[in-house]
Amino acid sequence: MEGDIERVLISEQQLAQRVDEMARDIAACYPEMDPGLVMVPILSGSIIFLADLIRLLPMKMKLGMITVSSYSGAVTESQGASLKMDLNIDIRGQHVLIIDDILDTGGTLRLVRERLRLHEPKSIRTAVLLRKPSKAPKDVVADFVGFEIADEFVVGYGLDYDGHYRNYPNIAVLKADRYTTG
Ligand code: IMP
Ligand code: MG
Repeated sequence: MEGDIERVLISEQQLAQRVDEMARDIAACYPEMDPGLVMVPILSGSIIFLADLIRLLPMKMKLGMITVSSYSGAVTESQGASLKMDLNIDIRGQHVLIIDDILDTGGTLRLVRERLRLHEPKSIRTAVLLRKPSKAPKDVVADFVGFEIADEFVVGYGLDYDGHYRNYPNIAVLKADRYTTG
């Protein structure tokens, strides 16, 4: 795997430090509250971020899940977000925090928010680890953002290319020929 990496963009240490800061910001936003908080990670890219983030949060919470896909196979351009697995938990009247790995064109977050609104939660906020400001539309804004990055395709810390590299501990760019050979 290491041999496929061109360059590390954000190191494991930088990720840990920033996720810690984000946890503090999020905790400050949700003081000891009723009736509680539901985290809704968008699978699968957010799983590592989710696991690190929620263990730094002191409040009681439930975990729901939703699966959205916008890339199929060896591509690096979004092909439009589509729902693969709907939410598996009741969020009516609850505070919801959507967790995603990266906000790019905004199609994924727009779809998930519209979907969750149908269940009439008390509030919906969004936390993303990465944001590519070049493409992010004005109507899709995340409440908590870890890092802003340039418009290049990245892998690691949950993010994949063609299903691989989610377990790479840093955020990195692959060697150019790896993107074309799949
Ligand atoms: P959006 O719908 O265009 O905002 O894209 C968001 C989704 O596309 C994310 O949840 C990721 O799964 C995926 N994605 C976007 N950019 C990248 C990238 O650079 N690497 C890996 N996945 C990405
Ligand atoms: Mg995703």
